[in-house]
Amino acid sequence: MIREVCSLGRAEFDRPHTDGGDPDAARLLVRGLRAVGPDGPPSDISPSLDLLAPRAPYFDRLVLDAVTAGVPQVVDPGAGYDDRALRFRTPGVEFFDLDLPDVIADKARRLEATDTAHLTLVAVDFGTDDVAEVLARAGHDADRPTLFIAEHLVLFLEPDDVERLITATSGRAAPGSTLAITAETHPTALDSDLVVSAVDELMFGGAGPLRTIRARDAWLALFDKAGWRVEDADEVTAVDHFELPVSGEVVGIRTQFLTATA
Ligand SMILES: C[S@@+](CC[C@H](N)C(=O)[O-])C[C@H]1O[C@@H](n2cnc3c(N)ncnc32)[C@H](O)[C@@H]1O
Repeated sequence: MIREVCSLGRAEFDRPHTDGGDPDAARLLVRGLRAVGPDGPPSDISPSLDLLAPRAPYFDRLVLDAVTAGVPQVVDPGAGYDDRALRFRTPGVEFFDLDLPDVIADKARRLEATDTAHLTLVAVDFGTDDVAEVLARAGHDADRPTLFIAEHLVLFLEPDDVERLITATSGRAAPGSTLAITAETHPTALDSDLVVSAVDELMFGGAGPLRTIRARDAWLALFDKAGWRVEDADEVTAVDHFELPVSGEVVGIRTQFLTATA
């Protein structure tokens, strides 16, 4: 459902595109798509627009700048119905959209009548698959620079899988590569497991889809360990996501935008 909200929400915005790109790609991809809540009725996407409003231009700008600068590969783990491969279509640039098999199959169906010669749709499960191997099999070239973008993904993965993903991208990142993700953060003093279980219990009644929330320092340490360098680590680009009580205190969870170079 969140996947649908993201793509339906982005289709509401006026966004840039390349000369060869398709400005209607978002609308094409969401045709007939509905955001349906767990209990059935269509969900109101308007509250999510505030979260998407800074996120969409942040990632659009990264992709536009990369393809303009001649970065030849864009890898989008957890792409969902992201339209950037079509919106920013550029001669000489290969896009790789990665997602779960059923999502990839549906995306392929939606794009049947579209020129996707520059796009490889890759079925993967970040919980079980070796992402480096999957990328190699898909034709990704680890000797050429890549922009990796993971927008609103790692929040939904288990911490170990996030670490494996970030390490795998680093292993396939030639000099000149960049990794950009959204990372949910909590105040430094709190224990991450406690925060995630409070979110799970209070917001989702124990069935929560949100699995990885860390302090900013822990995110930075993870990037560093994997070989990704966050420039301007003191400069925080973030949007407030939600608040909840943890151990008797109201805690703000923020979505931070982390961009790092290989
Ligand atoms: C919230 S959506 C965001 C989609 C897209 N990045 C966007 O901003 O529109 C998260 C995406 O991650 C994918 N995803 C979640 N867990 C995954 C997993 N274990 N393996 C592969 N993809 C996964 C979901 O299917 C979904 O498309």
